[in-house]
Amino acid sequence: MDKPIIVERQGRVVIVTLNRPAARNALNSEIMRAMAEELAPLDRDTGVGCFVLRGSDKAFAAGADIKEMADKSFSEMYNDDFFAAWDRFAAFRTPKIAAVSGYALGGGCELAMMCDIIFAADTAMFGQPEIKLGVIPGMGGSQRLTRLVGKSKAMDLILTGRMMDAAEAERCGLVARVIPADKLMEEALKAAETIAGYGKMATTAAREAVERSLEVSLREGILFERRLFHSLFATADQKEGMAAFVEKRSPQFKGE
Ligand code: CAA
Repeated sequence: MDKPIIVERQGRVVIVTLNRPAARNALNSEIMRAMAEELAPLDRDTGVGCFVLRGSDKAFAAGADIKEMADKSFSEMYNDDFFAAWDRFAAFRTPKIAAVSGYALGGGCELAMMCDIIFAADTAMFGQPEIKLGVIPGMGGSQRLTRLVGKSKAMDLILTGRMMDAAEAERCGLVARVIPADKLMEEALKAAETIAGYGKMATTAAREAVERSLEVSLREGILFERRLFHSLFATADQKEGMAAFVEKRSPQFKGE
């Protein structure tokens, strides 16, 4: 049987490929488990500086696996806390880039939003079409999409179930960059290598600070940022980064 995900390491970057192309990478329990369990040790590895998550050319992921869910009862969904394993992926501390080509629908869009940065191919289509199935987003879409694009656009997408293209997704702030499809991985890897080249304590702190801004008041967020900023002065990477600037040389970060 094919592996649900393919994990490749390129130096300090880990490329994760969702591997159900014939099913448009529909996110079944095997993929969900593999993402939480196989990637956890890599997340903790100080030698890993960035993940890049991709699907196929046609589909990043067309959502949770509808065929797997169709006959489930409320008690099965509730007692299994279905989708809870995705929270483990979302909570990884290593920076994650989603390289989205083709469809990112339902859970696919939600999975992209669990990443820190979304790069979209010009072929990408985003949407939360769960309403058409008689349900609503269940992997965080109603919360993350609203924080990222605002109430009106989130309501538009979630209530109508329509798709939006990459240009609209960039305009509304969901994606960081739109890239020609044949250059998507090249650009994503370039950004991943840049991020992975910095000290991992600093990149971890940076993403924690930005994430926190989505959760707390401005005053609390600024205090959180300042304390993290202060704490980085306990790291060797801060000494190295600032010394290298003063000495006009490239820094050698160690993640310590
Ligand atoms: N679950 C299960 N199977 C899926 C799937 C999904 N989400 N999306 C696609 N597939 C399967 C199709 O059933 C089909 O399988 P068969 O070959 O066995 O018939 C195969 O993938 C190819 O699909 P299509 O022939 O439909 O491919 P297409 O290129 O013509 O269309 C698509 C692609 C527009 C993405 C279309 O497949 C589609 O609309 N998929 C469903 C999208 C959707 O509703 N997503 C939300 C799911 S619910 C959810 O995600 C809940 C949540 O919040 C987590």
